Amino acid sequence: MTTPPSTPRLALVTCADFPELHPEDAPLIPALAERDIAAEAVIWDDEQVDWSVYDMAVIRSTWDYSSRRLQFIEWARSVPRLVNPPNVVRWNSDKHYLQALEDHGLAVVQTTWLEPGRGYDKRALHNRFPAREDFVIKPAISAGSVGAGRYTATDANSRRYAIEHAMRLLAEGHSVMVQRYMPKVDLHGEIALVYFHGTYSHAMKKEAALTDVGEVAVQDGADVETVERYKATPAEIEAGQAALAFARARIPGRSLSSRPLAYARVDMVPAGDGEPVLMEMELVDPRLHLSVGRRSLDRFADSLAAELRMGPDAANIDLA
Ligand SMILES: Nc1ncnc2c1ncn2[C@@H]1O[C@H](COP(=O)(O)OP(=O)(O)O)[C@@H](O)[C@H]1O
Ligand SMILES: [Mg+2]
Repeated sequence: MTTPPSTPRLALVTCADFPELHPEDAPLIPALAERDIAAEAVIWDDEQVDWSVYDMAVIRSTWDYSSRRLQFIEWARSVPRLVNPPNVVRWNSDKHYLQALEDHGLAVVQTTWLEPGRGYDKRALHNRFPAREDFVIKPAISAGSVGAGRYTATDANSRRYAIEHAMRLLAEGHSVMVQRYMPKVDLHGEIALVYFHGTYSHAMKKEAALTDVGEVAVQDGADVETVERYKATPAEIEAGQAALAFARARIPGRSLSSRPLAYARVDMVPAGDGEPVLMEMELVDPRLHLSVGRRSLDRFADSLAAELRMGPDAANIDLA
């Protein structure tokens, strides 16, 4: 089959581990073909690729970039037209954005931040851990639960392991997040809400990743996470939308008047009172679980076709 010269070319960006895309995203290729868009899987760090041949590149399964985030940002800036754009990639790939959102009044999972190079000793770390219940230690730059561990505050051994874990991450140059373990996650799971251009599409419920105390995830869990379809409540859908509005106002180079992001996933967990609080917002390479929910795939394909038609978003200047 030859492609007529006017057919737009779209790169669906992946990593070397998924050269043909993740199976959930592969059906995007025929779905986009139905919309007269020639889409293909392209590996982000393949040096042979000439990104200028694509009318648009859409990040999908680039799940190997966390350990080389700066290289990934540099790549993002080099692509003529990237969705989501490089300023969003930069902002969202370091969980410090949660601090910025919390500072502006959004309900996020409460976090104590430990920064590398501050020379904390064991006692200083101990003092920053919660006194009761379980807590989580995780790096600020990570994905797929890598480097996250759960500990029990009242168990001296567990606390010692937590100190060692935090020390190790800090020594490796990571910023470290200390959070209370949200106990409702064990029973209710985590809710992931997907939005295309700001419009709610579908939701999943994800099982708790840190079920065992003391275990630190070393392997990427993104591909093995257990999810099921979930019917989000209006309050949850609205909370996700509020979080996205906060983000639009905070991302350097964007504003509340800029175009809503082509895709976004908002992950929330129930707090003690049952109200949803933000665990994280995935604006770079979220699994979108397009097979969940009727028409999720079509809605995403429609959004990408619309994004292509609208042309580059003027609000995407990378200011850093
Ligand atoms: N404070 C917490 N309370 C309960 N579970 C947590 C907490 N922090 C992390 N987790 C578990 O670990 C998983 C990964 O953490 P998350 O912050 O979402 O990082 P990642 O970017 O790796 O997805 C979550 O999906 C959740 O199951
Ligand atoms: Mg997560």
